[in-house]
Amino acid sequence: MNMISSSSTTKCGLCLFLLTTFFISARTSDTINTSQILSDNSNDILISSTGAFALGFYSPGNSKNRYVGIWYNDIKDKTVVWVANRDHPLTDRSGVLRVIEPGRLLLLNSATSATIWSANISSTVQAPLARLLDSGNLVVADENDESNIIWQSFDYPTDTFLPGMKLGKNFVSGHQVYLSSSKNNDDPTTGYFTYQFDPTGYPQSVIKNGASVLSKSGPWNGVGFSGSQNLVKNTLYSFGVIINENEAYYYYQVLNDAVYTRLVLGEIGVGQRLTWSNQTQSWKPYLAFPMDNCDSYKVCGAHGICSTRTWPDCSCLDKFIPTDPQGWNAGNFSNGCIRRTTLNCEDGDGFLKYSGVKLPDTEGSWYNASMNLEECKVTYAENCSCTAYASLNISNGESGCLLWFGELVNMREIAFGQHIHIRMAKSELGSGSRKREIIIVTLPVVIGIVLLGLGLFLFYHVRKNPKHQQQETDTDNLRDSGETHGEQKIPMFELSTMFNATNGFSADNKLGEGGFGPVFKGLLEGQEIAVKRLSTTSFQGAHEFKNELICIAKLQHRNLVKLLGCCIQGEERMLVYEYMTNKSLDLILFDQVKRRILDWPRRFDIINGIARGLTYLHQDSRLRVIHRDLKASNIVLDSDMVPKISDFGLARICGGNETGAKTSRVVGTYGYMSPEYAVDGLFSVKSDVFSFGVLVLEIISGKRNRGFTLENHRHNLLGHAWMLYKEERSLEVVDSCLEYSSYSSQVMRSIHVGLLCVQEEMEERPNMSSVVVMLNNDGVLPQPKQPGFFTGRDVIRSETWHSSNTAGSANAMTISLLEAR
Ligand SMILES: *[C@@H]1O[C@H](CO)[C@@H](O)[C@H](O)[C@H]1NC(C)=O
Ligand SMILES: *[C@@H]1O[C@H](CO)[C@@H](O)[C@H](O)[C@H]1NC(C)=O
Ligand SMILES: *[C@@H]1O[C@H](CO)[C@@H](O)[C@H](O)[C@H]1NC(C)=O
Ligand SMILES: *[C@@H]1O[C@H](CO)[C@@H](O)[C@H](O)[C@H]1NC(C)=O
Ligand SMILES: *[C@@H]1O[C@H](CO)[C@@H](O)[C@H](O)[C@H]1NC(C)=O
Ligand SMILES: *[C@@H]1O[C@H](CO)[C@@H](O)[C@H](O)[C@H]1NC(C)=O
Ligand SMILES: *[C@@H]1O[C@H](CO)[C@@H](O)[C@H](O)[C@H]1NC(C)=O
Repeated sequence: MNMISSSSTTKCGLCLFLLTTFFISARTSDTINTSQILSDNSNDILISSTGAFALGFYSPGNSKNRYVGIWYNDIKDKTVVWVANRDHPLTDRSGVLRVIEPGRLLLLNSATSATIWSANISSTVQAPLARLLDSGNLVVADENDESNIIWQSFDYPTDTFLPGMKLGKNFVSGHQVYLSSSKNNDDPTTGYFTYQFDPTGYPQSVIKNGASVLSKSGPWNGVGFSGSQNLVKNTLYSFGVIINENEAYYYYQVLNDAVYTRLVLGEIGVGQRLTWSNQTQSWKPYLAFPMDNCDSYKVCGAHGICSTRTWPDCSCLDKFIPTDPQGWNAGNFSNGCIRRTTLNCEDGDGFLKYSGVKLPDTEGSWYNASMNLEECKVTYAENCSCTAYASLNISNGESGCLLWFGELVNMREIAFGQHIHIRMAKSELGSGSRKREIIIVTLPVVIGIVLLGLGLFLFYHVRKNPKHQQQETDTDNLRDSGETHGEQKIPMFELSTMFNATNGFSADNKLGEGGFGPVFKGLLEGQEIAVKRLSTTSFQGAHEFKNELICIAKLQHRNLVKLLGCCIQGEERMLVYEYMTNKSLDLILFDQVKRRILDWPRRFDIINGIARGLTYLHQDSRLRVIHRDLKASNIVLDSDMVPKISDFGLARICGGNETGAKTSRVVGTYGYMSPEYAVDGLFSVKSDVFSFGVLVLEIISGKRNRGFTLENHRHNLLGHAWMLYKEERSLEVVDSCLEYSSYSSQVMRSIHVGLLCVQEEMEERPNMSSVVVMLNNDGVLPQPKQPGFFTGRDVIRSETWHSSNTAGSANAMTISLLEAR
């Protein structure tokens, strides 16, 4: 491969070039001057001085078209960061690139001498020289004074934002530097999406599809973008925003030049930061924006706030109500919310402080960097059109003032979010001069309300739409404080119906064997069902069983599997559940192939879902159900991968003593049982928390706690996770097939919470509602200690818990018997 072909004159480029071409062999060049050309035909390329970047002709993907591009020189899998003629491809190898006086870059078709592409310049130089810099920037400058730059590729990026680029606007020239997506891998043609640093109002980054806004990051606050939770100080790169009268731009710089990182706007409009891994020789995603539904622009309408922790995502800000309650309840949030008490400026409105939010869209905002917040309040309290204010810059305390004059849109709940002061009618401000601080979303309350709402909804529906032939059950002793007005019904099925639905309980229909008996798939009136046939030992009487079942049937939650009915006939006891297409979690999680469909967001949702279901069982439902056999095979997944806890309440209806603190009949599964339960038969909600912790670590690692093996030591999964945690290598426990780099803080947090749940001392385990909060907030977590069952796979040989109970070996036997089930 030749570096540069030279032609001696700029006149009649084609003929002279053909006559006088000679090769400068073995010399790597990073420049072209006016007497040189870069020719596709002779495979010419420029290589930057330390060899980081190369510039030359290439064909993308499966395309045959030729483009001039810049790529990483030492990455084999060609990664192009800039394209000159993206919208003007050459169809053959006749292209030549040259620089002509007074400084214009030209891409010519040497066969026809037609200009394919040229760079626009606004100033000129005597002796122009084009140089490919080590930053990947192609620069045209004066040969004798290279600081006199008249054109650079960094001012005209394609889809890639490189370190050292300034993404933003020059107010003097009016030139805006922004990314625009490529059509696809085979075609670098300008696509639909743009990624801009938009200084209108106050700067924020914006992703658009043509003219329509898809996502806005929230305003720059001196530290990061108000809504970009994952863009935080890190060891890879520094970043910042410069705003002055001449320009406003966003930039970043790598902290170690040997590390390659780039931000690319993908063909579907997702901005992704990628870093090169020397180890795997591939690009690893580091951050992505937008991240989730709540990053969609205006998703909850005016004065709505989005949170991925609630269901649904949208709610009204405190003291606001839906503008169109009917639409809102039906899930159309576009009309947003309004103040429940209308403003009355003359009457003396004030401002109410809201915390933990992504600041609203600043497109129509005003700001004053020299005012402080108090001045701002005083100045704008009188200005009735000012609807809200907040600090402008929180990088060094709080300074400046950012003001809104209309509806507040595009807010989401954010753990480290900012404060905003929103104009509110006098009567909403509370009394006296006491400053009221409102934490917008108090999680347990919201979850409680959502669950209650959902529970009532489902309950109502189940009662209203009895699908199947049913028979009334005796509910006389069931009227517990107001919940059951009137007759409680639970569909009862005939044994023959069950028999037919499951093909006579055939082996082909068997889905699995749970703790309390086999489960069969069935078809009932066109609906797929799962039938659990309880093993017929030591049951309560039919009447007692029915009553217990009605209680259990009342437990309705998004994360609990729904009981459709039951069958009680003779010795037979059967429960009928909704059938879940994705079956149980263990079948996916521990399968070498299938587990790949569980990416991190899905796994996190599953962890959260289980936590919420369990919280409901433990404290939100009246019954206070302890599951006692929580494990991966008891979590079923619906078609949307929403996890549902199954087998809840079975310990209760199958005669286990749920209210006592001690049981003689240990139900449960080795590997998930807490030490105090396995050894002493002590159970409480905290034994479920232990099982939950095991489950969390299994979900993260994709490995079973039980049967976990590593060559070099004999720890179980808990022990392994703990060792890694202590050595600050937590992330090494993560499933190798999981791409989690953009979520590493969430992953680390989940591991931490998992370890807290498996503490040996039950008092040290959090309760489930705290777990939900811990998983979804960024507060400081307590340090975990060594988990229960830390070292051994074998309970008896474990040094870490001590049973004062002399019957240790007998208990161990119970466990191994259970294990053999
Ligand atoms: C361009 O560079 C080549 C090689 O360095 C040199 O021989 C030639 O004189 C230069 N031409 C001009 C116009 O500077
Ligand atoms: C150069 O400027 C002209 C006129 O402003 C514009 O139409 C053209 O697209 C520009 N070309 C490039 C490569 O930027
Ligand atoms: C924010 O404040 C810091 C410290 O006072 C200052 O260095 C920085 O330039 C400010 N940023 C902006 C965008 O005003
Ligand atoms: C990656 O490999 C290249 C080439 O071997 C080396 O120059 C560079 O320092 C490595 N980068 C890191 C971060 O180790
Ligand atoms: C939601 O409500 C808005 C305004 O009422 C309406 O224009 C829009 O079509 C609705 N969207 C859906 C999906 O119903
Ligand atoms: C910003 O606030 C300062 C101090 O209150 C004031 O002097 C200045 O005029 C304000 N600037 C603008 C543009 O309103
Ligand atoms: C309110 O403030 C805005 C921005 O400073 C200003 O343009 C407007 O004139 C003010 N309105 C009143 C009534 O003072």
